[in-house]
Amino acid sequence: MAGDVVLQSKGICKSFSGTQALDDVSFDVKAGTLHALLGANGSGKSTFVKILAGVEQADTGEFIIGSHTIDPSKMKPAIARSAGLHFVHQDPGVFAHLSVAENLAIGRGYPRGVGGRINWKELRKRSIADLEKAGLAISPDVALGEFNASTRTLVAIARALQDIEGGEGNILVLDEPTSALPVKEVAALMAALRVFTDRGVAVLMITHHLQEIIGNADHVTVLRDGKLVADVPGEGLTHDRLVHYIVGRSLDEALPQKPEALSSVPMLKVDNLCVGPLNDISFSVLPGEVVGIAGLLGSGRSTLLRTLFGERQPLSGDIRLDDQKLHLRNPRKAMSTGIGLIPEDRAGEAAFSMLNVEQNLLAASIPEFWHNFHMSRRRENREAKRLVEEFGVKTKSEVASLSSLSGGNQQKVMIGRWLRRQPRLLLLDEPTQGVDVGARADIYAIIRKAVEHGASVLLVVSDFEELAKASDRVLVLREGRLVGEVRFPNLDPKHLTDLAYAG
Ligand SMILES: Nc1ncnc2c1ncn2[C@@H]1O[C@H](COP(=O)(O)OP(=O)(O)OP(=O)(O)O)[C@@H](O)[C@H]1O
Ligand SMILES: [Mg+2]
Repeated sequence: MAGDVVLQSKGICKSFSGTQALDDVSFDVKAGTLHALLGANGSGKSTFVKILAGVEQADTGEFIIGSHTIDPSKMKPAIARSAGLHFVHQDPGVFAHLSVAENLAIGRGYPRGVGGRINWKELRKRSIADLEKAGLAISPDVALGEFNASTRTLVAIARALQDIEGGEGNILVLDEPTSALPVKEVAALMAALRVFTDRGVAVLMITHHLQEIIGNADHVTVLRDGKLVADVPGEGLTHDRLVHYIVGRSLDEALPQKPEALSSVPMLKVDNLCVGPLNDISFSVLPGEVVGIAGLLGSGRSTLLRTLFGERQPLSGDIRLDDQKLHLRNPRKAMSTGIGLIPEDRAGEAAFSMLNVEQNLLAASIPEFWHNFHMSRRRENREAKRLVEEFGVKTKSEVASLSSLSGGNQQKVMIGRWLRRQPRLLLLDEPTQGVDVGARADIYAIIRKAVEHGASVLLVVSDFEELAKASDRVLVLREGRLVGEVRFPNLDPKHLTDLAYAG
């Protein structure tokens, strides 16, 4: 029955060599509810999900799922599946070189025909139906790598949803499914989830976007440093209340005052740029200015940043930095000119997860630490310590591997890497993806500081409310063309949405 407890978590504890990731976490999840699991970066949310999935093992505790008692130190993926648990992990295991249909078949298996051969026709049919359930109208035959991050997430969601046949007794667990999704896709996903809860499925969802929770979630559980600090009904919860639970104090989320531009001579000037979907784009950015770019998927936002970083070559048009015409043949050239990029797909492109925090922080600055063909290890370590402090990276030590950090803290490392080089032009593609409310405020304060010292910033953020707050001026891209420009203090998220979606 809706309202019945389908999952009881009792006293779950987990430590990783010295870090107590979960400390005596107990709460219930009920059938037919949208249950939010919230907490700052590193508070233990993903660890909880991984234990539930049998990917990590708990030290102590107990799960009761339906009428079965399960020892979470012996949980296995197969046990989780047979208990009716379905997952979309924070780093969804989807494979770029496989087709959409093959990605959907992972976990469920291929339909077989005579002699055990794969029935491709059936797979195709089944895939189209699965995609529809998640609101996706894409071909199942195309390699997943052809699609953007948001579509890849939706395919991972479709995969998790596909074998929920009945409703009741099923639990769908989503670890930050919306971090790469723009507004309308988020709304569509939330509506899709409601269809499942109405059928009795329990949905346990992790997110840092509190607006998705307010007015939507039936129940909210909050972790702080691995401990449960709130377990309350969703009704009547306010933004401030949630922030208080998550960060442990109220937060001054007002962004620093927008300063006057430092000069009226552009730092960056782009004229008649044509590349990929971008068609005849012209704009300029002043020193000390944060210029936001609003647009939907496929509007060309990331192409613009990548071209300015030398990863893509323009068909035509001019790019000037400090009135010098640039020929950005490759990223190395862009970096030596003082341009830095934090790409959208951090895990895939920028972060070296096998390397440690220090190596990642200093990855853009190696030459500086070479002296007579020796790396200055001591100096390097001192600098890494300073950066960890300055950017508030939560890590056990500078030499911990990057993969041991929570998602938001990995993002701070990426930002620290570029800011320490004091770039002239910083290109940020979704810099606060997966970053908690507290750290998000920190990151924008850090960016403002860089800007006050004369840097210019181009900022892509799918959440237009955040974009409007963080930018001095926003350019609106639609289908590869610049269709509008809105300046502080007229920056209104609703206006940006209208401009980006119109037409
Ligand atoms: N494999 C690991 N080895 C060592 N420490 C780990 C490992 N996995 C997680 N941790 C640590 O456990 C703590 C909880 O991490 P977890 O990934 O669960 O956080 P989270 O709440 O999901 O954060 P985020 O919002 O950033 O995704 C962090 O301090 C993290 O560094
Ligand atoms: Mg996480």
